[in-house]
Amino acid sequence: MCTIKALTVLLLIQLISHCSRKYLLKVSPFGTKEYIIIIAPNYSLLDGQPRQKFFRKDYTFLEDSQAFYKIHTIHKTWQDAKKRCQMEGASLFYAEDEIEADAVQGLWNKTQPQFAWVYVGISDLLAKGVFETVDGRPVLDIYNNWGQGEPNDADGNEDCVILRRDNTLNDDKCDRKYPFICKKSLLYLDWNTLCDIPDPSYVFNKDLGKCYKFHLTPMNWTDAHAMCSIEQSYLAIINSQAEADYLVKVTEEAPKSKIKGNFLSGAVYLGYHNRDDDGWKTIKGTTLEESGYTGWGNQQPDGGVNEPCGSMFYNGRLNDLGCHQKCFFICEHDIGLLNSAVEERFGVME
Ligand SMILES: *[C@@H]1O[C@H](CO)[C@@H](O)[C@H](O)[C@H]1NC(C)=O
Ligand SMILES: *[C@@H]1O[C@H](CO)[C@@H](O)[C@H](O)[C@H]1NC(C)=O
Ligand SMILES: *[C@@H]1O[C@H](CO)[C@@H](O)[C@H](O)[C@H]1NC(C)=O
Repeated sequence: MCTIKALTVLLLIQLISHCSRKYLLKVSPFGTKEYIIIIAPNYSLLDGQPRQKFFRKDYTFLEDSQAFYKIHTIHKTWQDAKKRCQMEGASLFYAEDEIEADAVQGLWNKTQPQFAWVYVGISDLLAKGVFETVDGRPVLDIYNNWGQGEPNDADGNEDCVILRRDNTLNDDKCDRKYPFICKKSLLYLDWNTLCDIPDPSYVFNKDLGKCYKFHLTPMNWTDAHAMCSIEQSYLAIINSQAEADYLVKVTEEAPKSKIKGNFLSGAVYLGYHNRDDDGWKTIKGTTLEESGYTGWGNQQPDGGVNEPCGSMFYNGRLNDLGCHQKCFFICEHDIGLLNSAVEERFGVME
């Protein structure tokens, strides 16, 4: 069983890479060739291993500040930029001090020198004139090298802060669209070892060899699709009856009744659609037959061109929906096996 072996080796490598964090590694066998690894702080198995310094493929680690950064090139409003960083498991960047400001300026100069400024995670949106970081710290406690005469609240309408490439801050209008930088501190990196992803809320299923996350914030199909993708996953696709049964169980156990508001209950979005009106397929481009599960609900699909987005009734049967409906949804994450995953993760270490 090559897959199981590869998975075991991967877990062992991750185990070793965790050791330098002074973690206690408790390896308990379950099944013959697989292990659950429980990690607790402050115990070293092997000293001298490099720390794992990987967050996501699209982020760069900087030694000087011990954090990961991504310079987003798609321009967004300040609020949307803040939201986007959160969706990636990070937060809108601000510099702690001059060392970090210089380090990030170096990355910026090297990779995106065309940008004259970027949004940073500072605003006075809560109280005019009181500039704070996205996590509520007074601006006086962080790097706060304002440009000459700034902040000036021009037109009484400048509440969001940009960082210029000369490393000075300026207040600007929040609805302007600018590039922005997201940051994840190594210190706050919470690695989901079984799922090989920096998101503890994904749950590993041993039998299916995949990870799943039930999203309790209802979204329309396109937003749900985007959300999974931003989490480095995809809207779940059912490949077997066993997987359908598992998704039913996940759906059953999700605390759905706690969620109030205007959304459609009874079905969760999955990664199917007929948006091109040329037959139902998965978001990976395969037909339902090829994907291994065609269990439509009674009389479904019944909505024709008005319902081109795929969902699963809570009982596991497939159903078509209008894509604008807001529903719960399930993201699925493939665990990268040995081939690329490990090299990627070790490749970015400096
Ligand atoms: C682990 O060690 C750090 C410092 O090395 C210490 O601050 C922390 O309290 C320790 N944690 C536990 C659970 O012993
Ligand atoms: C980045 O570029 C700016 C503008 O050209 C320059 O003033 C600054 O010294 C550069 N900083 C680094 C760290 O390369
Ligand atoms: C989904 O919602 C977003 C706003 O969150 C909107 O821009 C988009 O058009 C909606 N998509 C559909 C198919 O309704």
